[in-house]
Amino acid sequence: MSLPERLQALFADSADPYSELDALYLPLDRKRVLRSRNLGRIPAERHRRGGKVSYAEWAHVIGIFQALIGQQCGWREDLRMLDVGCGSGLLAIASEPFVGKGRYTGIDVSASQVAFCREHYAGQPCDFLHLDTANPFYAPEQTPEPLAWPLDDASFELVTALSVWTHFREEEARFYLAELARVLRPGGRALVTLFLLDDDYHRSLPRPEGLASRFHGLPVARWLFDRAAYGSSSWRCPAWADVPEQAIAIDSDAWQALVEDCGLRVRDLLPGNWKERPGAFFQDVVVLEKPA
Ligand SMILES: C[S@@+](CC[C@H](N)C(=O)[O-])C[C@H]1O[C@@H](n2cnc3c(N)ncnc32)[C@H](O)[C@@H]1O
Repeated sequence: MSLPERLQALFADSADPYSELDALYLPLDRKRVLRSRNLGRIPAERHRRGGKVSYAEWAHVIGIFQALIGQQCGWREDLRMLDVGCGSGLLAIASEPFVGKGRYTGIDVSASQVAFCREHYAGQPCDFLHLDTANPFYAPEQTPEPLAWPLDDASFELVTALSVWTHFREEEARFYLAELARVLRPGGRALVTLFLLDDDYHRSLPRPEGLASRFHGLPVARWLFDRAAYGSSSWRCPAWADVPEQAIAIDSDAWQALVEDCGLRVRDLLPGNWKERPGAFFQDVVVLEKPA
């Protein structure tokens, strides 16, 4: 029997063979990572959250965001970075080369993710804060009102939010972008990923079957934002979403106006490949700046 056949037989009765194989594969693979030491921090499959489950995708996305952080903030070691919606800490891993003499702070509404991160990244220059406010998709049982972050004004050079404004209704998107602007130092930058409804999106619409075929073969047009989220004219969600916060997209003009309302400016936009075009990352990445 070949090795794949032996493994298949071994895991034939397993409810979750990927998870079991992952436990074997990770220690083997870590021995072969010669140059990217921080990849050893990638958690086991059952802890990999945020819509990115495979080990390879974590390593890939960590690399993309390390390059972006270096590009935007310089190749420094004293960065103070806030990661909004840190999940199970993908960007805590990406931050490692930059925060040795600085600090990474992760904040999330999920108490279990925060507890996991505190244990998993113990010993690194990282803090993790639980925010006791609701998100109807991630933490429906918590206090419904948005909550100001327990963080000082102008205390971070970089704020990241990877796949987080894609889970905010309009009121929360506004409230938390104002919070982001408050905690950012003048001259500081933010990397926020979004589903932006712009010309590329509208150009991608005549081929909905192309969009559907890209998402795990599901027979749905996955990234069609054809429903108003809570009656908003510019925040939209797909028809399949059980609650709008499962996936929210923003009209690009409304986003631009919100950025300006918050006293920020857009420095750069890296279009995402979710709109059937080449892109650095899956979602659109917006680079924001707080004027000095
Ligand atoms: C798609 S996951 C992304 C996790 C992580 N950034 C990543 O990419 O691996 C969205 C995260 O945002 C968190 N979240 C949702 N609403 C939030 C809020 N109001 N404040 C902070 N985090 C929030 C969720 O709990 C979840 O961990």
